[in-house]
Amino acid sequence: MTLPGSQFADLRNRGVLVTGGGSGIGAALVEGFARQGARVAFIDIAENASRALADRLATETGQRPEFIAADLTDVGAARAAAAAAVAALGSIRVLVNNAARDDRQPLEAVTGESWDESLAVNLRHFFFLSQAIAPHMRQTGGGSIINFSSIAFMLNMPEIPAYATAKAGIIGLTKSLAGKLGPDNIRVNAILPGMIVTERQRRLWLTEDSIARMQERQCLKRVLVAEDLVGPCLFLASDCSGAMTAQAMIIDGGVS
Ligand SMILES: NC(=O)c1ccc[n+]([C@@H]2O[C@H](COP(=O)([O-])OP(=O)(O)OC[C@H]3O[C@@H](n4cnc5c(N)ncnc54)[C@H](O)[C@@H]3O)[C@@H](O)[C@H]2O)c1
Repeated sequence: MTLPGSQFADLRNRGVLVTGGGSGIGAALVEGFARQGARVAFIDIAENASRALADRLATETGQRPEFIAADLTDVGAARAAAAAAVAALGSIRVLVNNAARDDRQPLEAVTGESWDESLAVNLRHFFFLSQAIAPHMRQTGGGSIINFSSIAFMLNMPEIPAYATAKAGIIGLTKSLAGKLGPDNIRVNAILPGMIVTERQRRLWLTEDSIARMQERQCLKRVLVAEDLVGPCLFLASDCSGAMTAQAMIIDGGVS
């Protein structure tokens, strides 16, 4: 699968911040925006993978995306990373809240601490990054915030109670932020991916059998990959979706 060939002229030189951009879907998004000529910064906890991505894109595109190392579960670190992104890019018109960790947790194993940890890595920083970046968007006339949810919360999956709660919460957060920020011309939408076969998903959770079963449920009979999220994200970032806010866009090959 390759990145979309289409160019969105308004994304050229636009300041874009992606969380969790070091690997998986986030890395495809960083590359997708960079190949549109956007000025890209990304935040991630995984330093080696992130530096390797920044090095590769610097060589291939002639422009190095700005990597900011931070643990987004720490609200102070998340705010500092947002400030570093603003300092590096000057202006930010697009924020993609993508970082997450879909740990499995059987019902009986959930503790107060593991519940809080899951919501911290899967939900809390979506709010605090939006809170930190929205004033800068307002100053430059508006912007687009794109929040990564998941169809997982609608599929009755038994082993992800806290992750599913966080992903459902992202829909509520998206709608509330859209209501608050709309008067400032800041649009807020969510993307709900289906089963996206990344290296990590294959390593940790997926088998050939589970991939085949999901393909059976999809209308489109092919494996979905990280690059499949790039086009929808570019569209939501671009002025092409200028009247669209408070919406949830499902990209799952037709499962739901
Ligand atoms: N892959 C799928 O099938 C799928 C399906 C539905 C939704 N999603 C959602 O799409 C988004 C991307 O998923 P993915 O599969 O690429 O995930 P991934 O685990 O491959 O990548 C997530 C990135 O976030 C980073 N990250 C994790 N914890 C962090 C922290 N505390 N601070 C900073 N960075 C941190 C990781 O290092 C990684 O680079 C997530 O929001 C996920 O919930 C994925």
